[in-house]
Parts: sequence; C-alpha cells; structure tokens
Amino acid sequence: MTPDALTGWDEDANAEAYAAFARAFPMYSATSRDLADRARLTDSRLIVDLCGGTGVTAQAILDLAPARAAVISLDNAAAMQRVGQRIVHDPRLSWVTAPAEHLAEHAPPHQVDAVVCNSAIWKTDVSAVAAAVHGVLRPGGRFVFNIGAGFAGLTQPNGQGRTGPSLDSLIHRIAARDYGYTPPPTLDTGPKLPLAAVTHFLTEAGLTVVHTEVTTQHTAMAERKAWLSIPIFARPNGDFTHAQRLDMLEKAYARTNPEETTMTNWLVVVAQRDEPGSPAF
Ligand SMILES: C[S@@+](CC[C@H](N)C(=O)[O-])C[C@H]1O[C@@H](n2cnc3c(N)ncnc32)[C@H](O)[C@@H]1O
Repeated sequence: MTPDALTGWDEDANAEAYAAFARAFPMYSATSRDLADRARLTDSRLIVDLCGGTGVTAQAILDLAPARAAVISLDNAAAMQRVGQRIVHDPRLSWVTAPAEHLAEHAPPHQVDAVVCNSAIWKTDVSAVAAAVHGVLRPGGRFVFNIGAGFAGLTQPNGQGRTGPSLDSLIHRIAARDYGYTPPPTLDTGPKLPLAAVTHFLTEAGLTVVHTEVTTQHTAMAERKAWLSIPIFARPNGDFTHAQRLDMLEKAYARTNPEETTMTNWLVVVAQRDEPGSPAF
C-alpha cells in the first residue's frame, strides 16, 4: 500500500504542502480547468467538486460557473478542506467533509448539473461513486473526471524527448546507494482503473460515456521536484523519514538537467446521465 492510500490526506503537513504546490505550479490547476471546461457549466446552477481537496478544482469551476450557481466541494479529508477554506473565498462555495461514495447524502437528487473530479477518482470505490453521481445528476448532467496514466494503464510518454534518467529513477538509485534500499518485488496486477472497467461501472450506474481523450501535461524538472517533496508523494516507499526522502530528492535533483521536462498522460472521461427520450434512458 502506498502512503497515498493511507490517511495522509487528513494530515496538516500534507494539506499545507499540497496547497502550496498546487498554487505555485500548474499541474492541478491546469487539469482542473480542463475538466471544468468540459463540464459545460455556462447555464449550471449546482455543481459538485468531488474529492475537491484544498479547492483548486472548485476555483476552476467558480471561474466558469454563472454568478448565481452554487458549488459544493466534497472531500473526506478535513485537513485539506481547512487549508482550502483559508484560501478560496467565494459565497457560492460550500465545503462538505464526507466520502465521495456518500455524495447522495449531501446533494439533492437529480438536481446537480455537473460533477467534476480532478486527480482522485482511482482512490475511490468507483462503482459506488458512479451510483451516487447518477443519483444526484439531473438528466443530461455531466460527470467529468480524469485518471492518471499509470492507473488507467496508458503508456507513459515519460521517456520521449528526454536525454537523462528520470528524477524518480535517480531517487531510487540514491536510496539504494546511500540508504541500502531494495525495492519490493513488483507484482504485475495490471492497471487499477482501465477504461473498460470505468465504462462498465458508469454503464451499470446508468451513465453513458460521451467522450474520452488522452491529454498530455509537460512538467518542468523543478515542478516535479516540488511535487516529490510533498510528504504523501515523496519516494521511495518504505521505512524512511521525510527528511531522508528529501535528502535523496536533493541529491537526485542535482544530477538532472533542469531544462528537461517530464510528460504525464491523463485519461479524461466525460459521462452523462441520459435525458428522457434518449435510447439509454
Ligand atoms: C490529489 S488530491 C486532488 C484534490 C483536487 N481535486 C485538486 O485537483 O487539487 C486528491 C483528493 O482526493 C481526496 N479523496 C481520496 N479518496 C477520497 C474519497 N473516497 N472520498 C472523498 N475524497 C477522497 C483526498 O482527500 C484528496 O484531497
């Protein structure tokens, strides 16, 4: 189990570091803007930011939503939301601390125009979330989310155009050299959330996939380093202190070419609750 899968999001150190990173670098704001745009919010009245964390996605939604719209940002980590409430001030936004799987208890049935979920869906019980989203969406309402390349089973373009080793692989080399790290044996269990599985969960819940697309993000080496310094994302897994992980990161970064970029793929999925009269309704 990665630290990511544990309670880390509800720790102040992670919440503060994540919020600072997400406001300093474009990784999460850019993907959030892309999803909010695809949700077609122009005439919306009620929008849910699912697994909204510190409000980066909520901010992207608020930027596109009408003045009269209301936005619910739902996340099960109170620490993330505490930081978000300090940063995002908008009377249209309310914060709900709850699991995504319980969305139906926190939004009125069939009245939500769009549910947007940036960089989180694979951490949830997708079948339960799809059912909950179906319960709150109005007919024609959209559920828009993305899946990280590794989780969706996409080929990562990381190696393309790069001349040196990745920051992650350098960290592992330094961990082995300076800290005696041996990586655990990898069991190839396949991707966690490939498109076929997502489509199955959505269809079972009564949602129709209307569009999928693979998008690519270019990340500068300095941004990758900043991301890897957030405790929940720091490498390698195993019995290390955060100070030790930061030491490995510094040494690894010193060996990179700061001019190089890393490319990250995302699988973007746009689903819709069918309208009355449509074949699948
Ligand atoms: C990488 S952050 C993304 C936050 C935000 N969407 C953004 O783009 O900045 C992932 C978030 O998912 C939340 N999360 C993970 N599993 C969840 C679940 N089952 N229910 C609610 N929130 C969850 C975590 O607490 C964390 O805040």
